[in-house]
Amino acid sequence: MCGIIGIIGDKQVSPILVEGLKRLEYRGYDSSGIATIANNNIQRCRAEGKLVNLENKLKQSNLSGNIGIGHTRWATHGEPTENNAHPHATSNVAVVHNGIIENYKEIKEELEKAQCKFNSDTDTEVIVHLINHNLNQGMKAQEAVNAALDRLEGAYAVAIIFSDEELMIGARQGTPLAIGYGDNQMFLASDSYALAPLTRKISFLEDGDRVFLTKSEVTIYDEQGNITQRPIRITAQSGATTGKGEYKHFMLKEIYEQPAVIGDTLNSFIHPSTGHISIPKEILHSLENAPRITMVACGTAFYACMVAKYWFEQIAKIHCEIDIASEFRYRESPMPEDGVALFVSQSGETLDTLEALRYCRKQNQKIISIVNTIESTIERESDYVLHTLAGPEIGVASTKAFTTQLTTLACIALALSKRKGAIDTAKEAELAEALRHIPKQAAKILNHDNEILQIAKQVSDVKDMLYMGRSMMYPIAMEGALKLKEISYIHAEGYAAGELKHGPIALIDETVPIVVLAPNDYLFDKIASNIQEIVARGGKVIMFSDKKGVSSLKEYSRWSIEIGNIHPFVAPILYAIPVQLLSYHIAAVKGTDIDQPRNLAKSVTVE
Ligand code: AGP
Repeated sequence: MCGIIGIIGDKQVSPILVEGLKRLEYRGYDSSGIATIANNNIQRCRAEGKLVNLENKLKQSNLSGNIGIGHTRWATHGEPTENNAHPHATSNVAVVHNGIIENYKEIKEELEKAQCKFNSDTDTEVIVHLINHNLNQGMKAQEAVNAALDRLEGAYAVAIIFSDEELMIGARQGTPLAIGYGDNQMFLASDSYALAPLTRKISFLEDGDRVFLTKSEVTIYDEQGNITQRPIRITAQSGATTGKGEYKHFMLKEIYEQPAVIGDTLNSFIHPSTGHISIPKEILHSLENAPRITMVACGTAFYACMVAKYWFEQIAKIHCEIDIASEFRYRESPMPEDGVALFVSQSGETLDTLEALRYCRKQNQKIISIVNTIESTIERESDYVLHTLAGPEIGVASTKAFTTQLTTLACIALALSKRKGAIDTAKEAELAEALRHIPKQAAKILNHDNEILQIAKQVSDVKDMLYMGRSMMYPIAMEGALKLKEISYIHAEGYAAGELKHGPIALIDETVPIVVLAPNDYLFDKIASNIQEIVARGGKVIMFSDKKGVSSLKEYSRWSIEIGNIHPFVAPILYAIPVQLLSYHIAAVKGTDIDQPRNLAKSVTVE
């Protein structure tokens, strides 16, 4: 998703803007640019591709000035070219924008009739020309911007600067925008992570807010045009940049961080002395009395909800409904009285998930969210929030956020089950023990990295792959397929193994490797017969199982990786790791851009 940063102050902004854009890279982008104001002139520098291209151009033409805006663009309207890169500007005004202007075509036609000359294929450029047109009509900056923004339909977060005003204007409609309060410097940015090295004093605009900043003053107007305040909080975001360390990619670093961050997340729920899992009682109280839990998310986060449905229904005996947010938000699902809606999101900014949350809010559901990014919009619009302690996840492909989401959901399910008396003390102790063993077992699984690399080398040129699993391995099969698709660009599908005979088995031949996730649990015999069905048709099986499972099916598996003996309760968390490694190594062999795969963004804040 696009990233925005803006600065108005008393010192040169160009290098600070570039550093801010580096902290926005993780959102995914395909071009970038900055604009500054010097001697009442707007100076601009933009570049296609990675930030290094912008930095190289800036070495030739460093931009001076104490006011500036910057942007990393994830193309929505218009190719990812320099010409379409933000900021967009006239001689009077420059704008950076995150979101989609849904009525830009009609505005563009109107402005072209008024002799405005467009230079890009973007929707954003209509904002610049609307403001410029209003300025030329004699409006002052604030009036010109208000009149322009009132015309827009769709989602936007914007930062706007002017050639002849010591003023920066920001506005939020459906897409996040934060204010940073400095000393004789004020900031705007898409998130607190970009602002953390500059200031820890942050406010978040609400939808409809518009903010007018000078280097020493901030004035916020709400949707009704009244001056308002937004709470200033001290962000907990670290200003430290998270480097890759000795890893080649952020994704690999984050895969290897999982034993530690799963441990951190567990420790935030496990009572230090009793060892019991403790979840805030107001969360358990709302869950235990709910006739149904509705869980909604997107992508990998949705697969975490798929696993959680098994946990909540099997051990906490509570009915769950799950759905992907982009479908749920339009489905008009009738919601039960006293129902609870639970949202899972790494970024806390996924617009589909946020809009699904808002639907459930309107249906008087209690809103619980599990997010990794603190101070995110989803968090701020929830009744209760639990944080996964995965730390900043920079790789677009979600890994440590996923396993810490599962860890958090498992803790909730266990605590709820105990509170409802659905399990006895002995069972509670058994499952809590299984959770506490995860970090050690995760570290052991990472020792299979090289074996998985050898498999990856032999399958990296395939065109299709299938992933199979039963029960809680079915969502992990879906997740494994998604990982492969999004970073290696190989087509892959995850299936419930029982579904094989209902169609997918037609896909099986010697060119299609099938990853089978087969912990030695109560369904092992079923999946063993699925493996034989696959092999009978020439399929090549990549099997992940434990010692017993591997030895009993070795003759049917083209490749097999022996995962340790793992309690079925925590198997989905641990089996996620080898499929992450498999997709990583296949992509590495193919040489794709693993941390920022083509077409993808880390946080999808548009519909
Ligand atoms: C996962 O690897 C993908 N990057 C994507 O599916 C992601 O999980 C999805 O966009 C949801 O993002 P969120 O967790 O930030 O809401």
